[in-house]
Amino acid sequence: MAMASERERCVTGIEGLDNILGGGIPINNIVLVAGAAGTGKTSLAFEFLVRGAVSGENGVLITTVESKSKLLANIPSLVFYDEKTVGKRLTIITLKDLLEEAGISAGVAGESVMDMLITMVEKLVTSTNAKRLVIDSIDTILPDQKEERLDTYFLTKLSLMLHEKGSTAILVSKAETADGGTGSVVDGIIQMGNLERKGDLLRTMQVPKMKGAAHSRAKYVIDLTSAGVLVTTLLKGGI
Ligand SMILES: Nc1ncnc2c1ncn2[C@@H]1O[C@H](COP(=O)(O)OP(=O)(O)OP(=O)(O)O)[C@@H](O)[C@H]1O
Ligand SMILES: [Mg+2]
Repeated sequence: MAMASERERCVTGIEGLDNILGGGIPINNIVLVAGAAGTGKTSLAFEFLVRGAVSGENGVLITTVESKSKLLANIPSLVFYDEKTVGKRLTIITLKDLLEEAGISAGVAGESVMDMLITMVEKLVTSTNAKRLVIDSIDTILPDQKEERLDTYFLTKLSLMLHEKGSTAILVSKAETADGGTGSVVDGIIQMGNLERKGDLLRTMQVPKMKGAAHSRAKYVIDLTSAGVLVTTLLKGGI
């Protein structure tokens, strides 16, 4: 039997990330994937869902990209992507459609809007039996990263829902640093970044916090490949 202190993990299937986390994301955690444009946030979050789907876990992707076809067109092919399985297990919906369905007009914020949004997300997660949820990105839902009150309200509700469903969530944000604001109220942070080296712009990944997991806090270099996100240590490149 597992030790009481050991929380069950959602094995992301992204090998390098699971290694950093000591086995995966603790189930029910809300993890913020933060980083500047082009640092690989969508690639990481999408692979999390596809890896889940091919290993039998359903997922939901709420995207701010205008349409599902545009989203898929912009995602490079992954060798482990199995159209049939992913099509069956992964539900993709645009945030615009979700808000429209809930009767929420864009730009409106407040607790009642948060309630409606959470209700919609809960319906989606329940009806699809999703164990993995990604919102890419939360920047329009939680527009003011410095405003902790609404973030806390939304995340507390989301957390209750995830506990009920046994699901794990990744929230994507373009916030370049995850200090304060949303970062202080989520369970985990995966910080994506850029690193210039010899005229090259490398992509990096670092986990400053992950509740329920003893994890590495080192900065790693990542490669986005058709085999998914590959993780190597910084030193390997001879910095
Ligand atoms: N498997 C891959 N092989 C090669 N290039 C890739 C791969 N996956 C993603 N890329 C490229 O890397 C770039 C950044 O990836 P991604 O879209 O995941 O970043 P992002 O952090 O979500 O960016 P944004 O903030 O603009 O949403 C894209 O231009 C994409 O074409
Ligand atoms: Mg993106």
